[in-house]
Amino acid sequence: MSGKELPKTIRKLVATRASPKFREVVSIVTEPTPKPGDGEVLVKNRFVGINASDINFTAARYNPDAKFPMEIGFEAVAEVVAAGPNALYKPGQAVMYMQYGAFSEYKLMKDKLLVPLPKLKAEYLPFILSGNTAAISLDKVGHIKSGETVLITAAAGGTGQIAVQWAKLKGCHVIGTCSSEDKMKFLKEIGCDRPVNYKTENLREVLKKEYPKGVDVVYETIGGDMFDTCVENLALHGRLIIIGYIEGYESDKGYKPASTLTTLPSMLLRKSASVGGFFLPQFAEDSAPYVMKQIQYYNEGKLKSFVDLGQKASAGPFNGLEKIVDAVEHLYSKKSIGKIIVDLNPKK
Ligand SMILES: NC(=O)c1ccc[n+]([C@@H]2O[C@H](COP(=O)([O-])OP(=O)(O)OC[C@H]3O[C@@H](n4cnc5c(N)ncnc54)[C@H](OP(=O)(O)O)[C@@H]3O)[C@@H](O)[C@H]2O)c1
Repeated sequence: MSGKELPKTIRKLVATRASPKFREVVSIVTEPTPKPGDGEVLVKNRFVGINASDINFTAARYNPDAKFPMEIGFEAVAEVVAAGPNALYKPGQAVMYMQYGAFSEYKLMKDKLLVPLPKLKAEYLPFILSGNTAAISLDKVGHIKSGETVLITAAAGGTGQIAVQWAKLKGCHVIGTCSSEDKMKFLKEIGCDRPVNYKTENLREVLKKEYPKGVDVVYETIGGDMFDTCVENLALHGRLIIIGYIEGYESDKGYKPASTLTTLPSMLLRKSASVGGFFLPQFAEDSAPYVMKQIQYYNEGKLKSFVDLGQKASAGPFNGLEKIVDAVEHLYSKKSIGKIIVDLNPKK
């Protein structure tokens, strides 16, 4: 093993029991620093991404047989600090990864699961989970084409910001929903053709009036009445991608189904429209090429990446493992713009 002087112990955030009440069920534990084996590296996490599903994961909705205490957190930008025999990377290499257990100061990783980066930078993080969800699902489930109308819900969020820009890059007309004037401004800046603040405008009425033929593709992350509105306003041959149902995540009962699901078959049939589901882990083979494509577009200035490190949040800035709880609550406050990130090791 080679590398810098490492601490004897590391700290990580774990869930102690199954519940979506993130603050109540997480705690910081200390354990001996792991040593990398063959083909493994130890990484020091710098930026960790916050996701709506962090609370689905603590609620054991991903794995009902989960054992506690359970490692949590999905993704990080990190630096390799020690390498085992035959590892692909040396200490000092900046990397990014998507793996359960990222809410940790250090993490042992198989080298093959890492994406190498030119430098440690928060702006790369939105591309791996949020960005891949947007880009892969719009291409492979939504089959978006130039000239089509695409509706993105939670358009100013972590995954929504990339979905808007990806659909614009493909030549689509993009409608994006959000809940504040700050987000409306942000959506205009990233090229959204028709931002809709659903607090001040009725989305159903906007769609009926301005898009009487309906929308071709919907990127749906909210559920409930939003889902119904989107299905009602699908165009002929429209496609709706179910990306999430955030309305139900905070409830102990879990996901809340759309209230009028019984009418779904008839609404789809008469338009030959489809509703498809998308879960990023089931598209693993697309992950590396899509993340590289986004980094290429970012470096070429075609794709922008917005991160929210909590500078404007009441509990911010989000610096250190202790701030992950505040960062998760910030996501559910609906005030965040772009991808929420916690800096575990801010430069002084
Ligand atoms: N299928 C997959 O593989 C996959 C992968 C990644 C993410 N997702 C899904 O994508 C969605 C967005 O996730 P994200 O991590 O990128 O979060 P995010 O969009 O950064 O934050 C959530 C946003 O959702 C909107 N929202 C609407 N109703 C809400 C409610 N009742 N509670 C909280 N927020 C509400 C808010 O924006 P407005 O107030 O502006 O509407 C809020 O800012 C989630 O549904 C998530 O599960 C799915």
